[in-house]
Amino acid sequence: MRVRVNRERCQGHARCFALAPELFELDDLGNARERGGGIVAAAFEDKARLAQANCPELAIDVIET
Ligand code: F3S
Repeated sequence: MRVRVNRERCQGHARCFALAPELFELDDLGNARERGGGIVAAAFEDKARLAQANCPELAIDVIET
């Protein structure tokens, strides 16, 4: 699984970072980007889906690989 933040959509709500800091980080403007190239370890797959579901801008893609 991978996650990807759509930088065009992200408005900096930071829910992704609050729910899954292992997968997301915030830049200087508070917008998210994926950590580690967006690769999701098996242990964090539920967190990836939770973050996706909680982004009000629908800015997070979860890609099953
Ligand atoms: Fe951006 Fe959504 Fe996270 S708006 S900071 S990707 S919760």
